[in-house]
Formats: sequence, structure tokens, C-alpha cells
Amino acid sequence: MIKFDFKTYVKPFIDENKFNELYSKKNEYIDKLNSLDMIGWTKEIDKNIISSIEKTRDYIKSNFDCLVVVGIGGSYLGSYSFHQAFKKYFNDNSFEVIYAGTTLSSKYLDELYEYLKNKNFCVNVISKSGTTMETNITYSLLKDLLKRKYTQDEIKRRIIITTDKEKGNLRKEVNEEGYISFEIPEDIGGRYSFITPAHLLPLSLNYDINKIVDGYYDGKRFIDNAFEYACIRKLLFDNKKQVECFTVYEESLYYFTEWLKQLFGETEGKNNTGIYPTSMVHTRDLHSLGQFVQEGNKILFETYIKIDKTNNYIKCNNEDLHTINNIVEDSVMRAHFSGSTPCIEIELDELNEENLSQLIYFFMLSAAFSGLLFGVNPFNQPGVEVYKKEVKESLNK
Ligand code: PA5
Repeated sequence: MIKFDFKTYVKPFIDENKFNELYSKKNEYIDKLNSLDMIGWTKEIDKNIISSIEKTRDYIKSNFDCLVVVGIGGSYLGSYSFHQAFKKYFNDNSFEVIYAGTTLSSKYLDELYEYLKNKNFCVNVISKSGTTMETNITYSLLKDLLKRKYTQDEIKRRIIITTDKEKGNLRKEVNEEGYISFEIPEDIGGRYSFITPAHLLPLSLNYDINKIVDGYYDGKRFIDNAFEYACIRKLLFDNKKQVECFTVYEESLYYFTEWLKQLFGETEGKNNTGIYPTSMVHTRDLHSLGQFVQEGNKILFETYIKIDKTNNYIKCNNEDLHTINNIVEDSVMRAHFSGSTPCIEIELDELNEENLSQLIYFFMLSAAFSGLLFGVNPFNQPGVEVYKKEVKESLNK
């Protein structure tokens, strides 16, 4: 269950008439969204895809000890952040999934290469375009390692490609080599691809993806809340609150805030507008950015993700620690509000797979509405191409 509080610590920063006027356009914005091409993520996933993912999961589990996922941005953050949210901090005994492809660090890739030398691993390359530099470099390093260890037939058993149905180099390679492959549908972009094999295959190794899929579509009932959140964010922005800080109280949700930054950053940040997304993990960051939020430049609003109950019951001086953490969260919200920072609160009754999947759908819907409220195309990222072009030119010099 998810509860939203868009009012308690927000009201004084928003003109109620302006809110009512904007919110009254809800149906117009729903129609606008539905008229766009890239909304495959709002449609039901084919059950046959779930079965093929489960078949491949069984194949991976019974043949290999480790899956190396190669992808970046929207092609990795969804499943990575989900896994980080649930895996154990210590003595984690989940099936080993290594996420590579997000860095050109020689140190990281050299150490990964060494580590994999003695591992029985397979690789899942995830790239819709098939042209992403970081993904391609990491994939060729891993292929090089596979070539040193195995025959061509064995290599074929160890590569799984998730890419566009028809376009790009990776699809060409699948057609030539006969690798196991999955499709990222044409009408779904990277950061909106949570409910595709790009994320469901890596997640299937450790989670019941049926629960994830059910939870995700259950998120549809929050459409009004998603539009309300988008309206409030836009009105806060118009009121000079141009930075949104996603604040969590559970270290394991740090990467979920990274997913949120990517989702909102790439969706809204274009045409010289958009809210700049950042994040804090409390209470750690109360001892760093907390000072800025309380007394610094008043450019920020916060969106808290609160977890009401936990199964990890631990007492400190006869007080339940989770209760203490939540009391701290409520107190911090009041303190930041008193320092002119609006605070939005989103509360999950507990952190479980269904709730997090619902929340993912809620945020994707809000991000898409926000893009439309800012008058930009929510589903492209032309700015990212600029750096790619520069890099390409420099490397080809
Ligand atoms: O959200 C997006 O579309 C991007 O972040 C992409 O996912 C990212 O650039 C990776 O692209 P690709 O999947 O084509 O390798």
C-alpha cells in the first residue's frame, strides 16, 4: 500500500487556485499522454514473454554461477536499483548478478576481467540502440575473455542479447550467431523499460517476476496521484523551487534515488527547463547536505520515501529502532519545512516487491506527466547525443 501526502509540508508554497486550475486539466493531459507513441510501458506485457524469461532463468541457473549484465542508463538502473533495495547487506546469498557497462574505469574493468577468469559466467548485453559506447566496450572485453576460455559453440551458449526487435548491430549479431535474445519493444524507451526483458530477465534470477509484474500494473490506480504530484512539482518549480531532492531513510534505497534521478533528469531536462533531481540518504546526509537544505539557498524541495513497517525488528534502549528512524524522519521534515523547504511524503506500508513495482509505475507516470507539463517530449534525450558525438569525433581523430 502507498500513501501520499502532498499537502502537510507543501501547502504554504503553492497557490491553491493555481493548483486547482492545473489539476482540472487532468483528463486533457491523460489524453495527451495516450496520444504519444512511446507509451508501450502502460500496456500489458505478453504472458509468453514472461514464460520465455522464466525458461531462460532456469537455463542460466542450471548452467552458470553468475550473470554479467552489460548495460547503462535505462538499460540497467531499473533492475540494479530494485536488486539493491532487497538484497541483504551482509551474507547475501542471492544468485550472483554483476552489473558492468556503466564505466570506462580501467581499474574496474581490469579487476572484473580477473575476477571472471575463474568464474562460470554468462553475459546479458542490454542495449536498445546497440550503439552505446560503454556497453560495447564492456561487451567486447567480455567476449575477449570468453574467447580465451571457450570454443565458439560454448561462447554461443553464454551470450544473451536484449535489444531492438529489428534495428542495430546487436540484433544483426543475434541473427548471425543465433544467440538467445529478447526484445525491447519499439514503443518503450530505456528509462521506461522496467517492465521489459531488459530488467525482468536479470531480476528473474532472484525474484518472482510475476509479483513484480502484478505490482507494476497495480500502480495504474495511482494515476490521479501521479498527476497531482506532477502538478505540485511544476507549481513548486514556478515558485523558484527548481531542485528536487529525493530523500530516503534506508541505505538500500540509494540506487532507487539514482533511478529516479535518471528518470526525471532525462525526461524533463531539455529546452532549458526542468527540475534538477538530486538525492539524500538520511541520516547520513543530514551531516553533509542537511546544512544546505536547512539554511542554504532556498532552491530545493524534498520528496521523502518513507517505509512504515519493517521485518527487521531491533531494539535500542528498549525502543524499536525502526520507530526511532521514522520519528527522526518526521522531525527532519518539520525542521526542513521550518527552513522554507517544502516536503512531499510518499509512504509505503512496507518495502516489498509489489510496493516497489507500484511505486516505479507511479513515478514513471508522474515523470511522463511532468514532461508534458514542462512542454517537452518526455521520451527522448537529445542532449545525451551531444556528448556521444564529441566522444566519437575525438576517438576517431
Ligand atoms: O533512458 C534512456 O533512453 C537512456 O538512458 C538509455 O537507456 C541509455 O542511454 C542506454 O541506451 P541503450 O539501451 O540504447 O544502450
